[in-house]
Formats: sequence, C-alpha cells, structure tokens
Amino acid sequence: MVDIKNVVVVGAGQMGNGIGQVSLMVGLNVTLVDIKDEFVDAGYANIDEGMKKLEAKGALSESADDIMARCKKSTDLASAVKDADIIIEAVVENMDVKKQVFKTCDENAPAHCIIASNTSTMSITEMATATNRPDKCIGMHFFNPVPLMRLIEVIYGEKSSDESIEKAMEFANKLPCLKGKRYIAKVLKDRPGFICNRVTAPVQIYNNYVFDLCAEKGISWKALDNDTRGPMPTCVLADYVGIDTLYHGQVYYSKTLSPDFAPGKVVSQLFNEGKLGKKTGQGFHDWSQGRPKPDRSAGKARIMKLKYSIAIMLNEGCRVLEEGVTTSWEVIDQVLMAGMNMPGIMGPNVNNSAKQVEVLNELIEMTGKKYFTPCDLLKSEKWVEMK
Ligand code: CAA
Ligand code: NAD
Repeated sequence: MVDIKNVVVVGAGQMGNGIGQVSLMVGLNVTLVDIKDEFVDAGYANIDEGMKKLEAKGALSESADDIMARCKKSTDLASAVKDADIIIEAVVENMDVKKQVFKTCDENAPAHCIIASNTSTMSITEMATATNRPDKCIGMHFFNPVPLMRLIEVIYGEKSSDESIEKAMEFANKLPCLKGKRYIAKVLKDRPGFICNRVTAPVQIYNNYVFDLCAEKGISWKALDNDTRGPMPTCVLADYVGIDTLYHGQVYYSKTLSPDFAPGKVVSQLFNEGKLGKKTGQGFHDWSQGRPKPDRSAGKARIMKLKYSIAIMLNEGCRVLEEGVTTSWEVIDQVLMAGMNMPGIMGPNVNNSAKQVEVLNELIEMTGKKYFTPCDLLKSEKWVEMK
C-alpha cells in the first residue's frame, strides 16, 4: 500500500480543521474542503492561528508559514481528491450527506485511497455501500478538540480490510497530540457510537430528563452545571460538542438502539432555534465572550447525580463487551480517559454490580426509561474477567 502523503479533509468545521492541523504538523499535505469559500477560509484561519501559537512557543520544527504552505483550500470535492491517499470526512452528522461525500470521493480518488468517516455515531458499513471500495472504507473517530484529546478510534466496517485498518492505525499513531501520547483504539464491530460515545450515550437519556426537569422548575443551566465536576460541566460540554451533533446522534440512537434516546424538549428546542452552542455563539450558554466560566453565585441545582452516570456507563460498557465492539474493559477505561479526560468507570467498580443494578432500577423508576435495564453481563459479573 502507498505511504500516506496527501490527506483530504472534507468539512472544515471544528473537527475538520483540527484533523487538518495535526496532519499538517507531521509534514503531510492537506486539502481542506467545504461547500463555501467562507467555511474553508474560517477552517484555514483556525489552523493558522493554532500554528502561530505553537510557533510562538517554539513548539514547531518548521515555520508556521512553511507548514501552512502545505495546506490547500477547495470547494470542489471531485478535483480535490484526485491525488488523495486518505480522505477523512467530517461533514454534518447526516447519513445522506455522508453517503454523497463517500460516492463522490470513490468516483474521483485514486484506487488505493482510504475513505474514512469521523462520524460520532453512524454506520461505516452503510456509508461504504455508496462506494465500490468497501474494503477501503473505515471509521476514524477523533475527539474534540482534536489537537488536545488523545483518542482516535479506528473502526472496522463490515467489509473493511485488515490492510486498510492497519494503514489507518499507522497514520493515526503518527498524529501529534498537544496533551500527552495518543491512544488509538481499534473498534472491532460497527455498532452505533463505537466505544467512547456508545458508553456515554445513555447518559444523554438521563441528561435529557434532567434538562427538561430544570426547564420545568425554572432552574438555571449555570446552577445545573455546578452540580457536576470533571473537565467540562454538562451544559458547557453539550454546547462545546454542538447541539446539532448531539441532536442528530440522539435521533440516530433512537432508531438503532432504543426509542428512549429521542431528543428531549430542551435539546429539540435549542436545535430548532439554531442555538447550536459554541459554533453559533449561543446554546445553553452565551459563548460570545469565549468559553463560559463557572458561576458559583448561581448555587447548585442539586438534581444531577454522578452515581446515575456511573451506573449507566458501567451497564453500557457491559453491553459494548456483550456485542464484541471491544473485548476488554481496560480498553473502555482507556478510551474514556483519552477521549474525554474521564476517569475509568469499569476497573474501580469491580465487584460492585449488585449496587449498580439497584441504582439502575432506581433510575427506571424515576425516569420510566427501560433502556436502563441492567444487562445480563452486568448482572452476571462475568465482565470482570474480560480484561
Ligand atoms: N493549536 C495550538 N494550541 C492550542 C490549540 C490549537 N488548536 N488548541 C488549544 N491550544 C493551546 C491553548 O492555547 C492553551 O495554551 P496555553 O496553556 O499556553 O494557554 C493549551 O493548548 C490548552 O488549551 P485550553 O486552555 O483550551 O485547555 P484546557 O486546559 O482548558 O482544557 C479541554 C481544555 C482539554 C478541552 C478540557 O476542558 C477537556 O478535557 N474538556 C472535555 C472535552 C471532551 O470531553 N471532549 C470530547 C467530547 S465528545 C467527542 O469529541 C466525540 C463526539 O463524537 C461528539
Ligand atoms: P461543524 O458544523 O463544525 O462542521 C461541519 C462542516 O461540514 C461545516 O463547515 C459544513 O459547511 C461542512 N459541510 C456540510 N456538508 C458538506 C459537504 N457536502 N461537503 C463538504 N463540507 C460540508 O461540525 P463538527 O463538529 O466539525 O462535526 C463534523 C463531524 O464530526 C460530524 O459527523 C460529527 O458528528 C463528528 N464529530 C463531532 C465532534 C464534536 O465534538 N463536535 C466530535 C467527534 C466527531
């Protein structure tokens, strides 16, 4: 297989420009593609700003200008992929749009080129059906912000070849991370949300319940955010990821996993009003002055409880093991830390299954959501052996 030199990133938004930046930093040629010049220009400007920051810190081995000279811009996907060795699709979370992108790439890229999707949730196998090279279609799931989050999931579609996966693993391993060493997880089965997003997905069912309860009781998002600890409070993280990405993901999970994932009232309203979070300047919070800071004066909502999120994630981690998406709970814990800076939930809870089953039953009682039903592997405690 040809060495990867030319990378095409389709979609120059928050993920696309991050993927472009780390690819440029290892000496690769990058073409950023979007549907309008203004979007490509904005993506390019973000990368340029990041490179200049790194240059000022003496963290680059060549000048920012020399690096940026390897970055091309395009709004013509068909011609942009003519010399591509790998294409990474990072457009909106919509299957039809992604399939159209895969089709155009397949029709115009060289035969050896790998086509990867950065989808958060959706089936790589289905995207590959839009091409005549399903063996070269894979998932490459980066985490936001790409230059700072260590995780990349490399995902097998049903027809992906081992060769394509190994090539993508090799490429992923070369990409720098500004905060520590990259962790590349091989995802063995093409299931909704893969590993990291799947384990955390049902927490969104709980979050939707809490958001709607807060709206009903007139509790502020600032107070709700004071209920949680961790690298980013719940509403800030939702805005940071993007309410559109969250909404589309929930709709997808509601069709593929359980209707319990259907977006709640608050998330639907924000989505319908175009309040998409950081990218539009307004979501749960106002982002016009940058990332919202915690406001202790708002007090606490005293609604969101960590014990529920832990039980939910442990149960879902067991489902991921049952389905063979990965074979080890250690991988799940590593993935959570590398992708979300979240301490592992599986290891430290060993032998704690009975307690977690109780908590899950309490949640079902409270929310009426049957998806929280403890799975067989959790109840049997056999997951502990799947190290
Ligand atoms: N280029 C160059 N430098 C950059 C840069 C870039 N692109 N981005 C950031 N930096 C620099 C900053 O300038 C800063 O430099 P200084 O220390 O010199 O000021 C440094 O990197 C650190 O940046 P921040 O101050 O922004 O970092 P932080 O310490 O506040 O941490 C965070 C930010 C890592 C994002 C942390 O808040 C966090 O872990 N949040 C959780 C994020 C998370 O969960 N992400 C996953 C979301 S889910 C997902 O992505 C999957 C999906 O499919 C939806
Ligand atoms: P974004 O809205 O910031 O960027 C998407 C870009 O794609 C936009 O600039 C849009 O103009 C462009 N686009 C739309 N249709 C296009 C087409 N046909 N051809 C070329 N460009 C097109 O979104 P994002 O947050 O960067 O998310 C992009 C993808 O990455 C989604 O699939 C999302 O689920 C996934 N993802 C997002 C995150 C996150 O935290 N935001 C993390 C991991 C994965």
